[in-house]
Amino acid sequence: MTQPLSQLDANGRLRHLITLDGLEPALMHELLERAQAYQCPPGQLPPRGEDLRGWTVANLFAEPSTRTRASFELAALRLGADVVNLDVMLSSRVKGESIIDTIYTLEAMQVDVFVIRDSQPGITEFIARHVAGHVSVISGGEAHISHPTQGLLDALTILQHKGDFRGLAVTIVGDIRHSRVARSAHRALAALGVGELRLVAPAEMMPESHEFHGARRHTSFDEGIAGVDVVMMLRIQKERIAGAMPTDIERYHELYGLTAARLARAKPQAIVMHPGPMNRGVEIASDVADGPQSVIRRQVANGVAMRMAVLAHIADARRRRAS
Ligand code: CP
Repeated sequence: MTQPLSQLDANGRLRHLITLDGLEPALMHELLERAQAYQCPPGQLPPRGEDLRGWTVANLFAEPSTRTRASFELAALRLGADVVNLDVMLSSRVKGESIIDTIYTLEAMQVDVFVIRDSQPGITEFIARHVAGHVSVISGGEAHISHPTQGLLDALTILQHKGDFRGLAVTIVGDIRHSRVARSAHRALAALGVGELRLVAPAEMMPESHEFHGARRHTSFDEGIAGVDVVMMLRIQKERIAGAMPTDIERYHELYGLTAARLARAKPQAIVMHPGPMNRGVEIASDVADGPQSVIRRQVANGVAMRMAVLAHIADARRRRAS
C-alpha cells in the first residue's frame, strides 16, 4: 500500500503545500505572521526580498485563474525568483504529453517550485511524489478538494479585522459542496480555533454529512447569518455541476444572495468576504460587494502576502536541509 505523502520535511518544515489537512496550528500562525510582514498600504512600493534569488517558480494552471496565478507570479518575482507561466491548455499536454513528462521537462530547465491548479483530484500529490528531492509542489487549487493558500489568506483577512479567532461566528454561504475554498477555509478556521462555523446552502449544494465536522448547517440564509462576525460568500461552481445549475437565478439570489437587508441580520461590524470571481447579482449584490463591510479586495492583497510567506518558508526549509 502507498504510504501517505508527508508535506513536511524531517525538520517539521513545509516541503510541499498540498492541503491544510493535518497542518499544525503553530505552523499556520507562523505563516500568518510572516504574511503580515509582507503587508503594504495601497500606493506604496510593495515589499521585496531575496529569499528566492536564483530560484525558478513554474505556474502550471489547467483551469482559469486571475487571483491565484497573478499573485503567485508577483509573490515569486518580489522574492527574486524567475517565473514561468505555463497555460497547460496551450502546452504540449494537448499533443499527448503526460503531466509527468511536462514536469520532468520543466525540472530539466531547473524549476524549483511547481504551483499546480488542476481539476483532477489527486494530481498535486501525484506530482509531488515524482519531483526531484530539492523540488517543491504547491497547490493553487485542486478540484473541489483543496485550495490551501486561499484558506490561509482568508484566515489572515479575518485575523486582521477581528484580532482573534476565538469567539467568532463565521458563516460560509452558497455552493459549499463543490467548493475547494470552503474546504480549506474550514480546515484553517477549525485548526485556528474559530468559535462557531455555520454552513448555509440549498440541499443540493450542501456537502456530504461526514464533511465539515463541527459546522452547523442551515438551509435558511436568514437563520444562518443571524449575529455572525464573518460572512463568506461563494459563487456557484458551474464547471463542477454537471447539468444541475439552478434554473432560476433570480430565485437563487432571493434565497441565497447577500443583500444589504440580509447583511443587517449579522453583527453591525461583520465583514463580508468572497474569494472571487464574483457573480454580482447572483450570490452577492453589487452594493454589498463594494460596501463598507466588504474586505474582498483586502483578501486579494493578502493573496500576494500569503503566497510570499509560503514561498519564503519553503525556501528557508530547503536551505536548512542543505546546510
Ligand atoms: N480565489 C481564486 O482562486 O480565484 P482565481 O480562480 O481567480 O485564482
